[in-house]
Amino acid sequence: MPEDQAQEIETLIRARYPIIYVVSWEEDRVQNTLREVAQRRGKRLFFWTTTDGLLEDGQRGRSADTRDPVVAMDAIMASGDSAVFAFKDFHPFLKDVQIVRKLRDLTYNLKRSYKSLVIISPVVELPVELEKEISVIDYALPTAEEIGAQLDRIIESVRDDDRIDTDLSPEHREAIIKAAQGLTATEADNVFARSLVEKACFDIDVILDEKQQIIRKSGILEYYDAQEDIEHIGGLDILKGWLRQRTNAFTERARKYGLPQPKGILLIGVQGCGKSLTAKSVASLWHLPLLRLDVGRIFSGIVGSSEERMRRAIRTAESVAPAVLWLDEVEKGFAGTQSSSFSDAGTTSRVFGSFVTWLQEKQAPVFVIATANDIQALPPELLRKGRFDDLFFVDLPSLVERREIMRIHLQKRNWDADEFDLDALAAMTPGFSGAEIEQAVISAMYESFDADRPLRHEDVAKVCAETFPLSMTMREHIGQLREWAHSRARPASSAISEETTPALTSRARTLAGSRRRHSSSGRRWWPGRR
Ligand SMILES: Nc1ncnc2c1ncn2[C@@H]1O[C@H](COP(=O)(O)OP(=O)(O)OP(=O)(O)O)[C@@H](O)[C@H]1O
Ligand SMILES: [Mg+2]
Repeated sequence: MPEDQAQEIETLIRARYPIIYVVSWEEDRVQNTLREVAQRRGKRLFFWTTTDGLLEDGQRGRSADTRDPVVAMDAIMASGDSAVFAFKDFHPFLKDVQIVRKLRDLTYNLKRSYKSLVIISPVVELPVELEKEISVIDYALPTAEEIGAQLDRIIESVRDDDRIDTDLSPEHREAIIKAAQGLTATEADNVFARSLVEKACFDIDVILDEKQQIIRKSGILEYYDAQEDIEHIGGLDILKGWLRQRTNAFTERARKYGLPQPKGILLIGVQGCGKSLTAKSVASLWHLPLLRLDVGRIFSGIVGSSEERMRRAIRTAESVAPAVLWLDEVEKGFAGTQSSSFSDAGTTSRVFGSFVTWLQEKQAPVFVIATANDIQALPPELLRKGRFDDLFFVDLPSLVERREIMRIHLQKRNWDADEFDLDALAAMTPGFSGAEIEQAVISAMYESFDADRPLRHEDVAKVCAETFPLSMTMREHIGQLREWAHSRARPASSAISEETTPALTSRARTLAGSRRRHSSSGRRWWPGRR
């Protein structure tokens, strides 16, 4: 990767791009790359900092005059050399109109010379006037090989210390390197050292802990610790099967086998039926970190910087990859991409556009799981081919599924599910969502707790009988949702949720029938009851 980046920077310099903006926290590594490029191109290399001014690489001391950025730019304009000028600490100055003006003048001069300006900064904040003149490069974090080399150097340096255990099996070594990916070279060095001091060995938890800190600092992503077990999801057999089948999809072995990395899935469906629950369980099933992206928060600040926030979030997610990135209720976050009544519709669509492009083109092993329940607000671009591997429709649970969900929630609270007539409970809860079944168990427990006795079948049955499921009042909405999903998504479950309402059932059957008659592919939408 650093070789590629050196190449990329070299190409831009050769093509006489006047200003190259390298995004990185790691000045040291970028500096080394620039040295390499300058040497290859036979160019002189200068660095500018606000404390020392403009100095040639290797030159010591301070150039007091050129500490003023305008003076430094004048000096560059006056110089006739073939050279690269790398500016550190420069991005805060890009807010100053005078500096921006000066840069524009300088750009004109640079284009007609063999001089290039490189700005090294951890964030991208471009003044609009310069957007067209500046080429932005995201400088990649250290690769697995680089981290491996770092690890070897550390092992070498402590080899004689017998208090420290540096024996690593190949698997352990791979796991350590994977855990450290996403850290900068310095951060990786520090965390390895910390682990050796604290644990006298290379400890994965110490390293992962460090990664969590980094994500927290980014502010938009949330690191999910408590993860759900996929066994605690009732029903949704097709969806669970899909996910189980890909458990090892991010391993080296899968790459060697020639498998592409899964991109992501979009779960659409009825409220409270396990979409968020599934998202939370994927990461623990695959043993990957789970990051939640709060799309709303990206737009919460000043309009202009939403793009930067989205960019940061994506970069952070990529840097901890392999990882699962979860966007809950994605349609709400991106609401406004279609509507012109939004004052920031332009920004929203740009940010959305860059997200969608990333979805389609991403190389990093970030599995995106997005959930939505309002199809009206769902931007159609999300549904196009190539964005997600699959779209799943999560419907109300069927009879068999409700039985399973009932069992799960009783057992979760330490009741012996066999003491309950699960068939009867499932039969009396048509149209209930998973969330409502869970709620029924909890309400019943309040009653039995209040009566100071263990929970009984009758308690649950009573609450179920008294509950009006939301689907009764949302009949029409659910009908539309099903109809919409019918031609666009894959059912998450092979069991048909039959008894929502009589009207819906007959409608569903009609759909199933016509689908079966017309379907030439083997994939059927309503494959019938289990
Ligand atoms: N299939 C299921 N199996 C077990 N529990 C379920 C199931 N579906 C829902 N639940 C319970 O209901 C809770 C809420 O479900 P979840 O948050 O996943 O719904 P959702 O589909 O994301 O709904 P929304 O569209 O409202 O976000 C879950 O935490 C879980 O306890
Ligand atoms: Mg949800």
